[in-house]
Amino acid sequence: MKIAIIGAGYVGLTSAAVFASLGHSVWLLDKDKIKIKTLKSGRVPFYEPELPELLKKSLSKGSLKPTLSFSEAIPDADVIFICVGTPMSKNGEADLSQVFAAAESIAKQLKKYSVIVNKSTVPTGTTERVKNIIRKIAGVSFDVASCPEFLREGNAVYNTLNPDRIVIGTETKCAEKVLLRLHEKLPGGRVTTDIRTAEIIKYASNAFLATKISFINEIANLCEEVGTNVEDVALGMGLDPRIGKDFLKPGIGYGGSCFPKDTRALHLIAHSNSYTFKLLKAVIEVNQTQRRNFLGKVRRAVGDLKGKKIGALGLAFKNNTDDIRESAALNIIDWLIKEGGRVKAFDPKANANAKKNLPALTVCKKPEECFLKTDAVLILTEWPDFKFLPWTALKKKMRHPIVIDGRNLLDPIEMRKFGFKYISVGRP
Ligand code: UGA
Repeated sequence: MKIAIIGAGYVGLTSAAVFASLGHSVWLLDKDKIKIKTLKSGRVPFYEPELPELLKKSLSKGSLKPTLSFSEAIPDADVIFICVGTPMSKNGEADLSQVFAAAESIAKQLKKYSVIVNKSTVPTGTTERVKNIIRKIAGVSFDVASCPEFLREGNAVYNTLNPDRIVIGTETKCAEKVLLRLHEKLPGGRVTTDIRTAEIIKYASNAFLATKISFINEIANLCEEVGTNVEDVALGMGLDPRIGKDFLKPGIGYGGSCFPKDTRALHLIAHSNSYTFKLLKAVIEVNQTQRRNFLGKVRRAVGDLKGKKIGALGLAFKNNTDDIRESAALNIIDWLIKEGGRVKAFDPKANANAKKNLPALTVCKKPEECFLKTDAVLILTEWPDFKFLPWTALKKKMRHPIVIDGRNLLDPIEMRKFGFKYISVGRP
C-alpha cells in the first residue's frame, strides 16, 4: 500500500521504517528541515536501538522517502497517519495544535479516497474534529480512524514489529478493511471498535500502567516502615497472572513524554465531562511524592545539602534512551542544585540533552568521575552498565561512601560488603 506518515518522532519514524520493511511504500513527512536532511542521510536524530539499521535498509530499497512536501506525499496515499506531538499545555490538557495543522495540510492535498488515521495520543472526540477540518477543505471522500500506538522508547522497533494488540477505531467497514489489510503481516490481537473507544483505550492503558507504578511505590514506602522487601512482594504479586509481573518496579516515580502527560490529560478529560477520577488524581500525586521522598532520603543521608558534592548516575527518564522529557532524575537533580548541592552526573546517552536542559549541571565523560570526593552517589536511571562498576576502587575515591539507589539496581548485601552505606527503595 502507499502510506504517508506525518511526524518523524519516535512513533512516526518507527512506524514508517517498519511499514517500509514490510513492503509498503512510505512517505515520511516532517516540517523540520534539519530532521528530514538527517533522515535522508540515514541517521536517526535520537537514540533508539535498531532504528538506524532499519531506516538505512528502507532508504536503500527506496521504500521509505523522507520529505518536507505534502504535495509529494499525500495525493497518492491510500493511508495517511498523523503521528505528531500532543504535548502538555500549561493547564495540563493535550495541546492539539499540531494535529489540527496536519489535518489542514492533508486536506489541501487530498486528491482521492484515503483513510486518515490518528496515531497521536488525543482526547476523545479529536479524530472527529480532524474529520470536520478535512471535510471543510477537501473535495474528495475520505475516512478517518484512530489506531493508537503502544510502543515503548528503547524498544520501539521490537514493539512495532511484535505488538501485543492492534487497536483499529473506525466509522466505516471500508476503513476497517483497509487498516486490517495494512497490518496483516503483524502479529498480536486485533481490537476493532469505534473511534472514540480507540482514543480512550490509549489513555486508559497508560493510566493503568502508571497506576501499577504508583501502587508499587506506595507498597515500597510501606515496606520501609514495616521492614519488608518490596522486590519479594512484587514477585509474590506478579506471579499471579491476573496481576502480572510487569510495571511493578518501584523507584523514583515514572517520567517520560507519556505517563505524566497522559495521566494529567485523562484526569482533565474526566473533569471536563463532570466526572471526578479520584484514583487517577492519587496516582499523579503519589508519583510526585515519590520524587520528593527520594530527595528526603538524600537529605537524611548527607545532612544539609549546601556545598555537598553529589554524584548522579543516570539522567534519562529510563534506560535505553537519550530522552530526558519529564525525567525524574533531572527533576531531583534540579532540586539538589536549588538546595545548594554541587552535582556531577553521567548518563551513557543523555548527557548532551540534560546539559541543554539544566546548564548548572556538570556532566562527566565516565561514571567513575561522579565518585571523586563526593558525599554521596545517587542512581537515578536503571542503566545496566551501572551494575558493573569497580565498586571497591570507587569507594576509595569518595569523601563519604554513601550510595542511594533510586532504581533498586544494586544488591544491598553486596554493596554493604563493599563497605558502602547503601540505601534503596522499599528494601531493608
Ligand atoms: C509508555 C508506555 O509503556 C507505552 O506502551 C506507550 O506507547 C508510551 O508510553 C506512549 O504513550 O507513547 P515509555 O514512555 O516509552 O512508554 O516508557 P515506559 O517504559 O513505559 O516507562 C515510563 C516510566 O515509568 C519510566 O520513567 C520508567 O522508569 C518508569 N517505570 C516503568 C517504573 O518506574 N517502574 C516500572 O515498573 C516500569
